[in-house]
Amino acid sequence: MRNTASFAGQVLDQPQNILEIEGLQMFFPILKGFLRRQVGSIKAVNDVDLSIRRNEVLGLVGESGCGKSTLGRCILRLYEPTGGTIHFDHGGERFSLLDLKKHEMRKMRRSIQMIFQDPFSSLNDRMTVKEIVGEPLLVNQVASGRELEDRVERMLVRVGLRPEHMRRYPHAFSGGQRQRIGIARALAIHPALVVADESVSALDVSVQAQIMNLLKELQAEFQLTYVFISHDFGVIRYLSDRIAVMYAGKIVEIAARDELLHTPRHPYTEALLSAVPRVKAHQRRDRILLKGNPPDVSNLPKGCAFSERCSYAKDICSNQVPVLRGVGEGHQAACHFAVEIKLRGI
Ligand SMILES: Nc1ncnc2c1ncn2[C@@H]1O[C@H](COP(=O)(O)OP(=O)(O)OP(=O)(O)O)[C@@H](O)[C@H]1O
Ligand code: SF4
Ligand SMILES: [Mg+2]
Repeated sequence: MRNTASFAGQVLDQPQNILEIEGLQMFFPILKGFLRRQVGSIKAVNDVDLSIRRNEVLGLVGESGCGKSTLGRCILRLYEPTGGTIHFDHGGERFSLLDLKKHEMRKMRRSIQMIFQDPFSSLNDRMTVKEIVGEPLLVNQVASGRELEDRVERMLVRVGLRPEHMRRYPHAFSGGQRQRIGIARALAIHPALVVADESVSALDVSVQAQIMNLLKELQAEFQLTYVFISHDFGVIRYLSDRIAVMYAGKIVEIAARDELLHTPRHPYTEALLSAVPRVKAHQRRDRILLKGNPPDVSNLPKGCAFSERCSYAKDICSNQVPVLRGVGEGHQAACHFAVEIKLRGI
């Protein structure tokens, strides 16, 4: 399907999906002994298919260790995936990201940027704010000298900082301000796609809300597409147009936000939703306490990876891996009983 968008007075006919991921695998080798022999692999991302639509916020949610960051890093090739394809549609061209040479990929990172989790370690403490925010512009030869300074200043003001902050070092800022610096750095170069990995998780709740609002405003203003990664359904719910739920290296459910929140089709999603705090006092919700831990992704069970924790599991679940399949319009779930069982949403 194609979108018709208007840009600088021109009408551009562009594909609806900005990114198409197919069969993506990121297996980290487990090496042992003096000869560093490979004795197994950590299947951090295991056959993921995922399409990201232009100008949407795709929320990626799941417990710690399920592979969210690894998937995000593979999109930017900060990790080199061990299998699959990633196609990026930009400026009227379709690029196979995993086939690009290293220097071509470095150039491509003008258009695909990442905002990291920890505002205290993701900024170089020896660089001034001007150097931090201006670096991508300088490295990519987008601006230098007075023009660079002007662009940095405009971007700082846009994210709620002041021009005089340019001369200061990161340690002089609060967590929220540091995250604003990280956002200014990622957006100064005007990317098309932003992977935001736990970008508000380290912040106080009130600051979280400010940064989420800022990210929302900037999305509309800069026509951005976000892959927004978080373990916190509250955050994902606030920002996302569609939500993908990840478990043990795989997408187990994906749907439009409200559809997923109100009519989940995977028992794992139901359990995650049961832990989301209520907005109104009369909304009663019994929390589903998941037994045990997620499986070891270097030694997955034979059938459904969730079977040992699932209260709906039947015999087939421990023998056959459920595939991600359509269960409604734009709604997919990887559960043998996705259609039969009635799950509770919020
Ligand atoms: N560089 C690496 N080398 C080996 N294993 C790794 C590496 N990076 C991640 N892993 C493993 O891959 C799996 C997925 O990790 P990942 O960091 O992607 O999870 P996550 O969903 O982002 O978790 P969190 O919510 O804690 O950030 C984990 O088992 C992790 O230990
Ligand atoms: S396939 Fe079986 S074990 Fe897996 S989520 Fe569905 S019901 Fe539970
Ligand atoms: Mg992570």
